[in-house]
Amino acid sequence: MTAPAMNRAVRLISRPVGEAKRSDFSFTDEAVPALGDGQILVRTLYLSLDPAMRGWMNEGKSYIEPVALGDVMRAGGVGEVVASNNPRFAAGDFVSGMTNVQTFCVTDGRGFAKVDPSLALTIYLNVLGMPGMTAYFGLLESGQPKAGETVVVSGATGAVGATVGQIAKIKGCHVVGIAGGREKCDYAVKELGFDACIDYKNQDVRKGLKESCLKGVDVYFDNVGGEILDTVLTRINLKARIVICGAISQYNNTVPVKGPSNYLSLLVNRARMEGIVVFDYAPRYKEAAAQMGQWLREGKLLSKEHVEVGIDHFPEVLGKLFRGENFGKLVLKVG
Ligand SMILES: NC(=O)c1ccc[n+]([C@@H]2O[C@H](COP(=O)([O-])OP(=O)(O)OC[C@H]3O[C@@H](n4cnc5c(N)ncnc54)[C@H](OP(=O)(O)O)[C@@H]3O)[C@@H](O)[C@H]2O)c1
Repeated sequence: MTAPAMNRAVRLISRPVGEAKRSDFSFTDEAVPALGDGQILVRTLYLSLDPAMRGWMNEGKSYIEPVALGDVMRAGGVGEVVASNNPRFAAGDFVSGMTNVQTFCVTDGRGFAKVDPSLALTIYLNVLGMPGMTAYFGLLESGQPKAGETVVVSGATGAVGATVGQIAKIKGCHVVGIAGGREKCDYAVKELGFDACIDYKNQDVRKGLKESCLKGVDVYFDNVGGEILDTVLTRINLKARIVICGAISQYNNTVPVKGPSNYLSLLVNRARMEGIVVFDYAPRYKEAAAQMGQWLREGKLLSKEHVEVGIDHFPEVLGKLFRGENFGKLVLKVG
């Protein structure tokens, strides 16, 4: 390794109230620690910015420990190994894993995997990364779509939603997206191949569902929660499956989350609502990545990333997710 570089680290220093602010983080230059036995040094190239990050900043019980105050903010990333004391990795390898929001990461390599740099590295944060795995297992394992059924997905042009809709099309379903704005809806139909897309910011969602889901809704893949979930519940079919993947409309709430008032539709329709957490499928990521890789090569899947630049802009760029200012998987290029 050449002269050890300084590590630019973004640490969580206070628990945000509402949307995370710049003052909730510190930005420091720190010496890169010497590598111990079995460790590798990774230079971060791209960071995955995810809605879940907002939840990780909160105290309290969840599917994963909160980020401790003073710790480097948790994040997935892709980077280049610049030094290695670990036989699994060599300098020059490109890897994905939890690099966290910092320019250099020292790790024992657990949870890191080599990636093929002949593909755009950002794909490993999207279709071939955590959002892609979420879409694949959430839709196929929990949603269980069958050919001819109607699948509705919210956050339809986002990282998870776009892949959900495309997989549902591959499986022969009638696919209806819900997204914010005409441009995103046009993209869902013209580029992603959805059958229809409802612009929830300018259209009546209930009316849109009536018009585009003539046979009702068999699978609803929910990325947003709130009113949209409540409205979709009024259109579900007998034995419908509601996949609770996320509820981005609620993550910055300063008042308790309100549940859907139309939940009795589950009773009437003998329907099922199930939460999913992608990490539960970690032992099967390889299987999904192989299938998604094939669909990418065959041109059946598009992977669109929205790249912003500069680790110091982390808080402001993260905020884009909650205002719908990302068009595709939000990625932060480091450096
Ligand atoms: N369960 C799991 O294991 C798991 C794993 C990954 C992600 N997730 C969840 O999946 C969801 C999507 O994540 P992603 O990474 O794919 O993000 P994304 O969809 O790429 O970006 C977030 C999008 O959410 C929409 N949005 C923001 N505020 C909204 C609101 N108030 N009402 C309706 N829509 C709103 C915006 O799209 P519009 O412009 O269309 O409004 C925005 O672009 C999130 O809820 C996330 O937490 C869950």
